[in-house]
Amino acid sequence: MENGAAQPVIVAIDGPSGTGKSSTSKAVAAQLGLSYLDTGAQYRAITWWMVSNGVDTGDADAIAAAAGKPDIVSGTDPDKPTITVDGVDVSGPIRTQEVTARVSAVSAVPEVRARITELQRTIAADAARGIVVEGRDIGTTVLPDADLKIFLTASPEARAARRSGELKGADVHTTRAALLKRDAADSSRKASPLAKAGDAVEVDTSDLTLPQVIERVVGLVAEKRAGK
Ligand code: DC
Repeated sequence: MENGAAQPVIVAIDGPSGTGKSSTSKAVAAQLGLSYLDTGAQYRAITWWMVSNGVDTGDADAIAAAAGKPDIVSGTDPDKPTITVDGVDVSGPIRTQEVTARVSAVSAVPEVRARITELQRTIAADAARGIVVEGRDIGTTVLPDADLKIFLTASPEARAARRSGELKGADVHTTRAALLKRDAADSSRKASPLAKAGDAVEVDTSDLTLPQVIERVVGLVAEKRAGK
């Protein structure tokens, strides 16, 4: 029975980089009229603040001591997601190579994770119509009671090819090496590593187009709402 359409639904989408997580999550949220949260952008934003304020990103104690300082605000409209730090739009600066190279170290610090996790839970609880939250530890740690958990995977080749395309023709071999290094760091850290929740549905996107992945996830949400 389709009696859950108006109920808020929480969808957690986790997985490594280059699996189509962001494009899928945004499109699913837009299609279903849900809010959308890019948690990677929050970790990038706090990393950008550390770099901009001269905090040594190799010094976990210094990062921990500063973790409570920046005010990070995420706009959750899937058609125009925003991110600000202390009122400054940082959507461009958080995508630089420098931030990308340092974000794994900053996001491994427990004080940073505690701070950002709290923000994420508040945003999810405030989403009246429901939300799609994408990240690395959403199904395992941030929202373990999510209605639906998806874990996106793809072969390293497919992921590197996608990322190189996004980076406007960056060398595939260099991109592949950087991406695998970041995933290894994110998967092996002590605090809340990248991991598939036991009750997550795994979707391998290597041989699927983006519309196919979106259709599959939208179908899984519909099944959940129908109580299957
Ligand atoms: O999704 P992304 O590539 O923008 O994420 C950037 C980094 O943020 C990623 O390398 C690890 C970290 N991250 C995390 O630790 N936990 C999350 N839920 C999301 C991202």
